[in-house]
Amino acid sequence: MKPKKLRSSKQPTLRSVKWFGRQDIYGFIYRSWVKNRGVPHDQFDGRPVIGICNTYSELTPCNTHFRTIAEHVKAGILEAGGFPLEFPVMSLGETLMRPTAMLYRNLASMDVEESIRANPLDGVVLLVGCDKTTPALLMGAASVDLPTVAVSGGPMLSGKYRGTDIGSGTNVWSMSEDLRAGKITPDEFHEAESCMHRSHGHCMTMGTASTMASMVEALGVGMPGNAAIPAVDARRYVLARMAGRRVVEMVREDLRLSKILTKKSFENAIRANAAIGGSTNAVIHLIAIAGRIGVELSIDDWDRLGRGVHTLLDLMPSGKYLMEDFYYAGGLPAVLRELGRNNKLHKDALTVNGKSIWENNKRAPCWNRDVIHSFDKPFKKNTGIAVLRGNLCPGGAIIKPSAATPKLMKHKGRAVVFENIEDLHKRVDDPKLDIDERCIMVLKNCGPKGYPGMAEVGNMPLPSKLLKKGITDMVRISDARMSGTAYGTVVLHAVPEAAAGGTLALVQNGDIIELDVAKRRLELLISEDELARRRKKWKAPKPPLERGYWKLYFDHVLQADQGADLDFLVGKSGPLVPRDNH
Ligand code: FES
Repeated sequence: MKPKKLRSSKQPTLRSVKWFGRQDIYGFIYRSWVKNRGVPHDQFDGRPVIGICNTYSELTPCNTHFRTIAEHVKAGILEAGGFPLEFPVMSLGETLMRPTAMLYRNLASMDVEESIRANPLDGVVLLVGCDKTTPALLMGAASVDLPTVAVSGGPMLSGKYRGTDIGSGTNVWSMSEDLRAGKITPDEFHEAESCMHRSHGHCMTMGTASTMASMVEALGVGMPGNAAIPAVDARRYVLARMAGRRVVEMVREDLRLSKILTKKSFENAIRANAAIGGSTNAVIHLIAIAGRIGVELSIDDWDRLGRGVHTLLDLMPSGKYLMEDFYYAGGLPAVLRELGRNNKLHKDALTVNGKSIWENNKRAPCWNRDVIHSFDKPFKKNTGIAVLRGNLCPGGAIIKPSAATPKLMKHKGRAVVFENIEDLHKRVDDPKLDIDERCIMVLKNCGPKGYPGMAEVGNMPLPSKLLKKGITDMVRISDARMSGTAYGTVVLHAVPEAAAGGTLALVQNGDIIELDVAKRRLELLISEDELARRRKKWKAPKPPLERGYWKLYFDHVLQADQGADLDFLVGKSGPLVPRDNH
């Protein structure tokens, strides 16, 4: 295809021309080195240069097919007359990284931001998949604000074990509890490992990766259909190719990320999260992305917008189906259509294909109402994320009602306290642990600073002696996060966290705690005097490491209600390169 002509009077000045358009020694250097892999001279004729930001890594199993996806994006860019340049950034694999991939989300976002800004790019395609890769790349790209399209890698095919579907994460939790309760053998456990993850792609439950892929679509930064097409379905490659074509047009239209990521699009995404029964991690990630692009978003927006929104999807962990079923039933377009028909969508929010979200989805069909329920007959009613306040969490804490046990949503119980994750692991299965099913499990020091990195440990394992009694849920409270594939009556993200001197740090065994989700309350029922007495004795923990990124993170990380970003990264900074002097 013939490249379209550079710059009509309406076309924006391309950043890349400052590199490749020069007729001096620097122009020679910029072009000549790029030519070393066989790039013809006509690629430097002023066509849009598009970066393909790739999180491929064998250490990120969910993203190992990204070289193939990048090839399809590249084909689309070439077809539209652009010049693709693929580059790697730090990849974050949820399953292998220690202490938690979340510790490195902000670091990866800095890599993305600086890689985009420092190079001769006019637009970017972000290849995202495993949980943290989506927010990290969106945060970094938002800080530069070029025309940008995100392409998710897509979910794995459904897990199949002995004739039943099993979902990544969700069935890991239930099977490991079954193993601890002696209900299944180690051999059965190992067999399930091989059956659960049987294709390329990310977790195929509505965990954090599927949630964030849905957020990409609901925010309008991905192409329609982005959320659910399986990773190995040819239509995923078509989507990647269309994204490649489209980003070239976006450069010509100067359609930047800041025109897509508006307050309206975030509000649409929050409601979509409630409708899909999405991960609580989306709360932190969306607030962090909004902070980077300059949109004010708070946890209270989540509570306000989630009210009156129902869960429409019968997907694990809240239900029984998996992402493959979701796609065949109509995918996110069918959900967005339901929201739009019930006045729960800003219909005019712009998306990357140049159309409004409503134009894209108003005719979306639903092929299976068992998987995607209608708004009139939802899967679960009123399930938006609830934000709790009280003396235990003056800055807020959250709970996901769709994953909780209804009768525990109003509960008063005796606290059983674990000082940190090691303490939990050491004592939770101790037969002498003084605990029953009415108690409330409290875990400290697992927040952004405390862990560090705010690990997904908030859904504490229940004591095995209670599991053996058939108990399946208890109220659990912490400053940690929870895996999007997990479930239970779990209060998360308490702010301030214990390691920052929050009240959580002061809870003692035997204290009475009251949870009332309907009233949005979480209270530690002890006197102010007693609280003050305990606070006087509290000592701040030392940073776990006094060097490198860990130190930078510990010194600058914000609390969960502010997206756990680094304080100096908040706020859009734009595509200009400081000291751009040659
Ligand atoms: Fe990568 Fe679940 S481990 S998405």
